[in-house]
Amino acid sequence: MTTTGTFTDFHNHLMPGVDDGAQTPSDAAAALDHFRAEGARQLITTPHFTGSLTHDAARLEERLAELDAGWAALQAVVFEDATRYGSTMRMERGVEVMLDVPNPDLSDSRLRLAGTAFALVEFPSLRFPPLNAEYAVTALRLRGWTAIVAHPERYRNHDDQLTTLVKFRAAGGLLQVNAGSLFGDYGRTAAVHAQVILTRGWADYVSSDYHARGEPGLRRFVSALVAAGLSEQAELLAVVNPARLLAGEPPLPVPAIETSQTEQARPLWARLLDQAWRPGD
Ligand SMILES: [Fe+2]
Repeated sequence: MTTTGTFTDFHNHLMPGVDDGAQTPSDAAAALDHFRAEGARQLITTPHFTGSLTHDAARLEERLAELDAGWAALQAVVFEDATRYGSTMRMERGVEVMLDVPNPDLSDSRLRLAGTAFALVEFPSLRFPPLNAEYAVTALRLRGWTAIVAHPERYRNHDDQLTTLVKFRAAGGLLQVNAGSLFGDYGRTAAVHAQVILTRGWADYVSSDYHARGEPGLRRFVSALVAAGLSEQAELLAVVNPARLLAGEPPLPVPAIETSQTEQARPLWARLLDQAWRPGD
């Protein structure tokens, strides 16, 4: 299988001035240029959003008004981008929900990904709750929503077997790896976790988590996997499954990566990628 090179990214911070991503419309325009250059044509932008706000009507209204204004500003940028390139980058909205409470009310469609039943979630301080972290996935599921856990490889309190992720998956949660994690952008531990998650076939999606600085990194991720003989996984993670999400459909299973029993603890493909890591990690 070869990759089509047309990516859908559903974790990025492009709305101007609403979080720690793009600050101005020109930041957002530059970010669109970077996505376009890498071959992304469909984006769902996901500003930070604190889940407990859904239990406080006044503060929720205030935050949604900020996001609506950011969305309007971003749509103007997308319109200008289409004028310049003669084709439209499809842009949808969602949020990245910080689960400071396990049971946010996501009934407002602006709090889910492109109005689908999928929601992008993260836990505070990159630490899973010590007990029953999967309860949040279950609680959302009971309301009819599917949690996609953002960058699970970046959490700091994994055990050796990444048991929390087994529990998320068993509870119906999905996993989205950041493209840059594989290359040490978030440190060596996150890189090794990303490789383990991919090797076991647990990742459902790759997205950029692009904050409008540097490069989104989707192309780099896909090129590295293709070079390592993992075209099928690359296509499913970066192309097929994110497009299915946009259509409201569940992801297809991503095959685990076969490793020979004689290989060391880290499989050959992962060790090959070590060469791509940046110095200093
Ligand atoms: Fe993010």
